[in-house]
Amino acid sequence: MIPGRERWWTDEPRVRMLFSVAGSSAIRGLSSYFFAPKLLLGNDGLKMLAVAVPSLSRKKQVFLVTDKTVRHLAEKVKRALVGGGCRVEIWDEVIPEPPIFNVLAGAQAAARVEADLVVAVGGGSVIDAAKAICLSYARPDLDLRQVKPVDPDTLLTTPLGIKTKVLLVAVPTTAGTGSETTATAMLTDGKQKMILNHPELVPDLALLDPAFTVGLPPKLTAYTGLDALAHATGSVLSHWSNDYTLPLGYQAIKLVLKYLPRAVANGRDYEARMKMAVAANMAGMSFGNAAPGFEHAMGHAFGKLFNVHHGCAVGLFTPYMIQFVAKYSERYLDLARELGVGGASPVEVLTNLVNLYVSFIRSVGGPTTIAELGITRAQLEEKFEELLDLTMNDGCTLMSIRPLTREDYRKLYLCAFTGEKVDF
Ligand SMILES: [Fe+2]
Repeated sequence: MIPGRERWWTDEPRVRMLFSVAGSSAIRGLSSYFFAPKLLLGNDGLKMLAVAVPSLSRKKQVFLVTDKTVRHLAEKVKRALVGGGCRVEIWDEVIPEPPIFNVLAGAQAAARVEADLVVAVGGGSVIDAAKAICLSYARPDLDLRQVKPVDPDTLLTTPLGIKTKVLLVAVPTTAGTGSETTATAMLTDGKQKMILNHPELVPDLALLDPAFTVGLPPKLTAYTGLDALAHATGSVLSHWSNDYTLPLGYQAIKLVLKYLPRAVANGRDYEARMKMAVAANMAGMSFGNAAPGFEHAMGHAFGKLFNVHHGCAVGLFTPYMIQFVAKYSERYLDLARELGVGGASPVEVLTNLVNLYVSFIRSVGGPTTIAELGITRAQLEEKFEELLDLTMNDGCTLMSIRPLTREDYRKLYLCAFTGEKVDF
């Protein structure tokens, strides 16, 4: 356990044991699931929302969750929903990587207006906050730290009844997190990013409209796009993947490779923006119904301690994850084949695949070493033990296809510092 935060469901030994075996293909072959919201796609988003959202709601009392950065987009959504007959209260108090107190405040505000519909307009933090707000609002009796996706005794999901109280609509304003389609909300407790996950957190409806992402600056476009690339890559290499998630993951990677450079070069390229929205959504469906890779454990911990953007951090660690996992599973050969990457031997295929990732990340302005971020070896060393504590305790470590020790992570961070090959 990490000092400075309270006990979470992922700290429970039985849950930790369950996670390490739950990804095995034998269990996944016997019993599985696939969650996704209904999707509205295209550049007529406001018109579509004005028709679709009121029909979801009996009371038509909407609590619109957003933050100050995209409040102007939330106002547009509010006008459309009011035109559709809804009453709308805007709450723009979401803090990036939302801490627990922030979502509890949001839940109280939702209760004051007795909302039966929450609409989230924003990036991953806003949508994640909205999911936790729905949970806390519908079930104020629960400690959200203890809500588990699966009961370790029955191996079944415990129904929470959230949807009988409130439904959730997500309008992403970035193309990366895939939060509009997943059951996961990343919250901050102390210095650690924690995973809240339950099937009832999957939004009921999501809108993918390029008009909501055209204002995103090039750097954030690149970083959020790299987040989608990491999600899809981790997912297709994971043994949690299945016949549904694999094609979604592969297609998401192909779309990111083709369209992210265009969206970064010209933010008003609507086709590239739309394709990136679809890529991020497909990547979200892929990892949300399988698992992300351990680059997300490293990215969560490193990003928090060194104040690095989530997408930038997970993008940086993805080539190292691919190399580490390749020593354990041949799934990377399937990924290489999908991407048309060849080689005279498996070793050469891996080298070519990793080179493709490294040069792509660089082409959109992402770093591929820690040193490029201006962090010195001494600064890394100073925080190393805390960094390893956070990484080892991250939920994504539990889901890694190849088990990781503290020493593995230490060596991976050192490889990532200067861009060394992972050969262990
Ligand atoms: Fe992510």
